[in-house]
Amino acid sequence: MGNTIEATGLELSYGSTRALAGVDLAAPEGTVLGVLGPNGAGKTTAVRVLATLLRADAGSARVCGHDVATEPHRVRELIGLTGQYASVDEDLTGRQNLG
Ligand SMILES: Nc1ncnc2c1ncn2[C@@H]1O[C@H](COP(=O)(O)OP(=O)(O)OP(=O)(O)O)[C@@H](O)[C@H]1O
Ligand SMILES: [Mg+2]
Repeated sequence: MGNTIEATGLELSYGSTRALAGVDLAAPEGTVLGVLGPNGAGKTTAVRVLATLLRADAGSARVCGHDVATEPHRVRELIGLTGQYASVDEDLTGRQNLG
């Protein structure tokens, strides 16, 4: 089995703020990856790059086997992205929430 998510050397700056300074990560197929870090560490920025919502300045990433920079439409067909808050409906089961 390969990696569902694979990123190498991701860099991204907002003006003079360096949000990502060479991020490498991999999530093997069938696993859950948690990304921890203090406020402002760049977690949301990294997720936005992986979800094709932001373009990295450098580095590369593949999600479900597709390059997020050159095949964003293919990646978007295959992923789901939910917000940090209000993402779980307590009236539904865990499995229904995932659906
Ligand atoms: N749209 C933006 N414009 C300018 N700077 C930004 C923008 N979004 C984030 N930043 C800055 O980039 C850095 C990384 O922010 P990011 O939101 O990715 O961190 P985070 O790890 O998700 O933080 P938190 O734990 O608070 O959610 C921070 O210094 C932040 O202030
Ligand atoms: Mg965040």
